Amino acid sequence: MDKVKVVLYGVGAIGSRIAEFLLEKEGVEIVGAIDLAKEKVGKDLGDVLALDRKLGVAVSDDPNDMFSKIKTDVVVHTTTSFLKQVYPQIAKVIEHGVNVVSTCEELSYPYPAEPELAKKLDELAKKHGVTVLGTGINPGFIMDTLIIALTGVCQKVETIKMTRVIDAAMRRASFQKKIGVGLTVDEFKEKMERKVITGHVGLEQSISMVASALGWKLDKMEVETNAIKAKSGQVAGLRQLARGMRRGRDAITLDLQAYVGAEEEYDSFNIEGVPSIHGKISPGVHGDLATVAIVVNSIPKVINAEPGLVTMKDLPVPSAALEDMRMYVNK
Ligand SMILES: NC(=O)c1ccc[n+]([C@@H]2O[C@H](COP(=O)([O-])OP(=O)(O)OC[C@H]3O[C@@H](n4cnc5c(N)ncnc54)[C@H](OP(=O)(O)O)[C@@H]3O)[C@@H](O)[C@H]2O)c1
Repeated sequence: MDKVKVVLYGVGAIGSRIAEFLLEKEGVEIVGAIDLAKEKVGKDLGDVLALDRKLGVAVSDDPNDMFSKIKTDVVVHTTTSFLKQVYPQIAKVIEHGVNVVSTCEELSYPYPAEPELAKKLDELAKKHGVTVLGTGINPGFIMDTLIIALTGVCQKVETIKMTRVIDAAMRRASFQKKIGVGLTVDEFKEKMERKVITGHVGLEQSISMVASALGWKLDKMEVETNAIKAKSGQVAGLRQLARGMRRGRDAITLDLQAYVGAEEEYDSFNIEGVPSIHGKISPGVHGDLATVAIVVNSIPKVINAEPGLVTMKDLPVPSAALEDMRMYVNK
């Protein structure tokens, strides 16, 4: 069997780390790369990744041209967070008959925010016989897939609360930028309002995925975002508190705190039910490492899946693809 062929769509912080991880793995090869950044276009991917060797893959800014010249099994898509922006990129890939694994947060569970685009993507993917998945650490795993899996041993679930605390100093520069590190509080508010920075994107998607898995119809969802200040008075990061309300109370609460200098990084979950399940992952799961892993580990599952738009709750239980990637592909 041929190696699994991958094209990178987006060679930024996460795309580059995914590329480096793929290069270590057996049974998979990078056959193309797409990015718009001027300093990358036309360069060999080895140079873009600052490796000491050429990879024979030139970064292109023309997806149509690339997909008409090369054959690939899957696109690893890591450009931006909002489905309206990435829709044309992903639609183009699908039209070329290629599967997609994307880190676009809104794609992880696009039905509440973008039902029309979700429907169009699903129809297009089915028409071209390919599968499309949005995944990552968060959304994609820690505040949704993991929680859903834990409820699998519950007879009753009353409420769910999950808290994730991240020291943003340990995360990539693009993450620090989107949570406003180094801004004044006024700048933070103004940039959030104008959507110049996004904060974390995905809490609504995680809540909706969990609610859907449990068959809960939510009455309302609210997300509150506040800057966290450092001693200097500058913004160190943010706290986002998202609540999914049902039958007059908070049924699902997700509390994300990401800021430079967080003393303890952890992920804690409290599922109240029968049985109740309480736990704490300490230190918390490293977001960048985990995103790279879950994207790559999802590649064979996406290739094996039925055509259409899928979410993490539709695929088999997540697992590491440690050996030759071809071992996990069954079609
Ligand atoms: N679900 C999760 O858990 C998770 C985890 C990590 C990241 N993410 C998301 O994944 C995305 C990528 O993250 P990142 O940190 O790697 O961001 P990044 O460093 O900004 O990288 C994105 C790259 O994509 C390029 N790009 C943007 N629009 C493009 C287009 N239309 N065509 C081709 N290339 C394009 C950018 O080029 P320019 O610099 O020229 O714009 C940049 O090189 C972000 O939206 C991030 O929020 C999600």
